[in-house]
Amino acid sequence: MSAHRVLARKQVCICAGSGGVGKTTTSAAIAAGMAARGRKVVVLTIDPARRLAGSLGLPELGNEERLVPGDFGDGELWAMMLDAKRTFDQLIEWHAPDEETRDAVLGNRVYQELSNAVAGSQEYMAMEKLYELHQEGRYDLLVLDTPPSRNALDFLDAPRRLSSFIDSRSFQLFTVPGRLGLRVLGRGTGLVFSAMQRATGINLLQDLSEFFRSFSGMAEGFRERADRVNALLADSRTAFLLVTSPDAAAVDEAIFFHHRLLDTGLPFAGAVVNRVNPLAAADGSGDGEVAELLGDVLGRKVLRNLEDYRLLAARDRDSVKRLRSTLGRKPMICVPELDDDVHDLAGLERMNEYLFGEGT
Ligand SMILES: Nc1ncnc2c1ncn2[C@@H]1O[C@H](COP(=O)(O)OP(=O)(O)OP(=O)(O)O)[C@@H](O)[C@H]1O
Ligand SMILES: [Mg+2]
Repeated sequence: MSAHRVLARKQVCICAGSGGVGKTTTSAAIAAGMAARGRKVVVLTIDPARRLAGSLGLPELGNEERLVPGDFGDGELWAMMLDAKRTFDQLIEWHAPDEETRDAVLGNRVYQELSNAVAGSQEYMAMEKLYELHQEGRYDLLVLDTPPSRNALDFLDAPRRLSSFIDSRSFQLFTVPGRLGLRVLGRGTGLVFSAMQRATGINLLQDLSEFFRSFSGMAEGFRERADRVNALLADSRTAFLLVTSPDAAAVDEAIFFHHRLLDTGLPFAGAVVNRVNPLAAADGSGDGEVAELLGDVLGRKVLRNLEDYRLLAARDRDSVKRLRSTLGRKPMICVPELDDDVHDLAGLERMNEYLFGEGT
């Protein structure tokens, strides 16, 4: 099965999966492959490795799409980098004057709710941008990379988390000006904010309460918009591609995620198993030659080493089989572990021999 067939009638492709399995690389490869097949494609990447970003012509973050230099025939490849990794926690760690203050802030209940909502909102913003680009209609296909979350499911929860935060008591209290809100929020909260103000010189409390007051005015429009984003995600022209490694734990998560997509009625289109051990497809037919070529001693050592790799490959094969059997008639594409990191257009092309090759 090829990604070309999977995406033939699609306008949106969302690459989801657990951390480090190759979501960013796969999204970029799929976008390049579809561009090479005559489409006008934009890929929204999240925290690409510096070298990959460089070869996509993305020297820095920005909320604008850029045309990727390269020959895509009649097609065009555009890329955009979304700033999603910057969490509140990092900010606190940078600005806290000492460990005590840092721990006080990080452990604060209000802070936790706030930062969860903001982290969720970054994931949400990615989808928001997707919606905006889809509305503008300038591209044939939009490919969305998803943020590296510990749990792939977090991503789908983002809009819900954000709206439940808007409804929450903490949020309401933030919109109460000044000390009054703080008193209700409980002891310690004021301390946290005054420590932060001392550390950063920013009256965070005032800023926040202003921010939230203006934000609460937008809450209704925001919720409506969230409904429309959800409708785009559920549309039949959208394809969710599940990216996973052949590792048993990653496959478990992929299987769970697959069920979750089906339960929520989101259009699951197929799975990509990335970095499969190339030996998973090999048999032992060439072993005889090894001893012949290398002699007894070295030959035996090499064969023993090979046997270890085969064991690992067999483990991969078992988990891939397990995934295959839960996918029903939906396609599964395997991409082997390549010799090199994938960090430029040539690397993406090598990956596409598998993603776009029939019958892999
Ligand atoms: N098939 C492959 N063969 C070799 N290297 C690969 C392959 N696929 C991905 N890589 C490398 O693995 C690393 C991680 O890939 P990538 O950044 O795409 O993962 P990710 O799922 O987006 O991670 P995160 O969850 O942190 O966002 C990169 O350095 C990439 O070049
Ligand atoms: Mg990534």
